[in-house]
Formats: sequence, C-alpha cells, structure tokens
Amino acid sequence: MDTHDDGGPGSVHWIGVADAQAMRQVAYRRILDAARHAIQRRGRFLIVLAGGNTPREVYRMLRADTDWSRWQVYFGDERCLPADDAERNSSMAADAWLDHVPIPRDQVHAIPAELGASAAARAYAETLRGVGDFDFVLLGLGEDGHTASLFPGRDWGIAADAPDALPVFDAPKPPPQRVSLSATRLSRTRGVLFLVAGEAKRGAVAQWRSGADMPARAIQPETGVDVLVESMLLPVGVN
Ligand code: 6PG
Repeated sequence: MDTHDDGGPGSVHWIGVADAQAMRQVAYRRILDAARHAIQRRGRFLIVLAGGNTPREVYRMLRADTDWSRWQVYFGDERCLPADDAERNSSMAADAWLDHVPIPRDQVHAIPAELGASAAARAYAETLRGVGDFDFVLLGLGEDGHTASLFPGRDWGIAADAPDALPVFDAPKPPPQRVSLSATRLSRTRGVLFLVAGEAKRGAVAQWRSGADMPARAIQPETGVDVLVESMLLPVGVN
C-alpha cells in the first residue's frame, strides 16, 4: 500500500490490486468485514452505495447470505430520472443485489430523484436527519476527478454546515440533473473506499496523486480514505 499519509483526515491510502476481479474480491471482503464489525459494536451497519458501473459486480457478489436485518442502505448520489429508470443508481444496485436479498424494503433509502433535484435534495436531507456517522461509504472516481455527483467547478458542499444533500443542475456526466451527498456528509463516516478501475481513470489518478484539487480529494473522513486501484494505474514500483 502506498500512502500519502499525514495520518489525518486528508490522508489517502492507495491500495494497488492486480485487476478488476481482484479489486472486487477485496472490496467484497472489506464490506462484509465492516458490516460484521459495525453490527457487533453498534447493532447496525450504515452503508452508502456508489453509482456508475464499477461497483456493479461487487453488489452482485453481495447476494451472498448474511444477516440483512441490521443493514441500512443509503446512496451517495442519484440521477434525476423516473424511479424505475434503468439508468438510475438505485436501479443498478437493485438489479445487481438488493432485489435478490431479503433486506427489509424500509432499510433501503433511495434518493427520490424523480422529484427533481431541489425537492429530492430537501427530502433526502430529511431522511438523513438524525442518522449518525455512516460506517462505510463506497465511492467511484470519474475521469475528471468527480465522485458521487460532485463535479469540478461546482459546489462540493465542503463547509462544516453544508447541507447533507445537494441539488445538481449542470452535471457534465448525463443526466445533468442529479442529487449528491455533500463532501461534508460523505466524510462523516468510519470508512471510505474508492473503487477505481480502467485505463480511462489513469489521468484522474495521476492528478489526485499530484495533489490537484478535485472533488474526490474533498472526501476527508477522520480515518482518511482507502483507494482500491488497479496497479497499472499507479506509477511503476508503487502498489
Ligand atoms: C454516477 C456515479 C459516479 C460514478 C463515477 C465512476 O452517477 O455515475 O455516482 O460518481 O461513480 O462516474 O463511474 P464508473 O464506475 O462507471 O466509471
């Protein structure tokens, strides 16, 4: 593991893995370990799911049997599309995993993005009111350094008093209207795991490692963040 580590909230622990399959295995194990630990300690496991394509196969692996009764599932962001639209992050997670396991429906907290960005952000902020720190936040990385639906040049919600959920109206990654948890709310967690795979992410990884400012860097939980990344995207000799 290569760590840009001042030990504090800004630290990034780069964990190189051989390929996407290895990344999925490590991610799957980390999620189940975190769930077991949280349920033992606090009687429940609060996980925030990433959208996009990278986590799909990890979600598929999570169909494995476990005690779902203690899981509470949230989403890091959602696309403003009809509730049953296949392009929704909630649809991807449901198709790959949530529709295949007996997790109580009222424990899966989809972002009501079909209401439109502003109304959905307000509604999800209400959903999150009173929900303490998350246990596990899963995130992807875009080619431009975005994460969740926090995009360069837009509001990332980094202020301590930033809203928990932000409306997004001009996302460069379609659809333009989205809802995203703010960087501050995504950072209120006991652990963050980024999943980064594919040649297209090489530039974003290099930019992140060079210290460039980008939404992914704004995610700064006390523990720092872990980034599971295909080793081919790291400089030679680092893994
Ligand atoms: C989305 C995601 C977005 C995604 C990254 C990486 O709505 O698309 O929330 O932040 O995680 O764009 O996407 P891939 O995993 O498909 O590369």
